Amino acid sequence: MSRLSSFPSIRSMAAAALAAVLMLAACGQNDAAPAADSAPQAPKTPTPTEAEKIALLAALPAPYNEGDLDNGRRAFARCRSCHTITPGGPNMTGPNLYGVFGSKAGAKEKYSYSHALRTADFTWDAETLDHWLQNPRTFLPGNKMSFAGLPDATDRRDVIAFLKVETGFKPQGE
Ligand code: HEC
Repeated sequence: MSRLSSFPSIRSMAAAALAAVLMLAACGQNDAAPAADSAPQAPKTPTPTEAEKIALLAALPAPYNEGDLDNGRRAFARCRSCHTITPGGPNMTGPNLYGVFGSKAGAKEKYSYSHALRTADFTWDAETLDHWLQNPRTFLPGNKMSFAGLPDATDRRDVIAFLKVETGFKPQGE
């Protein structure tokens, strides 16, 4: 009697255990979906909104306010090996250029400038940038930016417009 009565209870215990295992497996699968959703995302590089771009471009004097941003981006490819432009971007061979408009030349604290640029007494705006980019060596003798310059005035206009738009906005939260 006791043997007979215990037999079904063992079977039901086994069934319960099996059910528990299946439920755990099912729970595991359910857990997997939200875990994938909340996986850490790569930090976003802040970029200006369309409205900010238009306002920043309009704030430039002529002819830079008519700069072609796509051509400016292409022309800036020649600067990328030495310069980052995002907020808080690293210094490379050259200093990070975020916020360059309206800032004093040679003023990024953590960058080791040449004596010429560190002691230069002017502020970057469209016009000074234009002269600098046309021929850095003649504009400021003794600086250490080994770049031949952008001989094409349209490329300079466009890269200045591009720089203004990309480095002149305030990232959200600031
Ligand atoms: C081969 C590397 C190199 C390239 C290419 C280059 N630069 Fe530079 N740039 C430098 C270095 C190095 C300095 C710092 C010069 C110094 O201290 O004398 C500098 C300085 C500057 C500064 C002054 C920043 C400040 O804080 O005062 C500006 C603006 C600038 N570069 C813009 C550009 C632009 C725009 C281009 C592309 C058209 C460009 N550079 C291409 C290396 C480079």
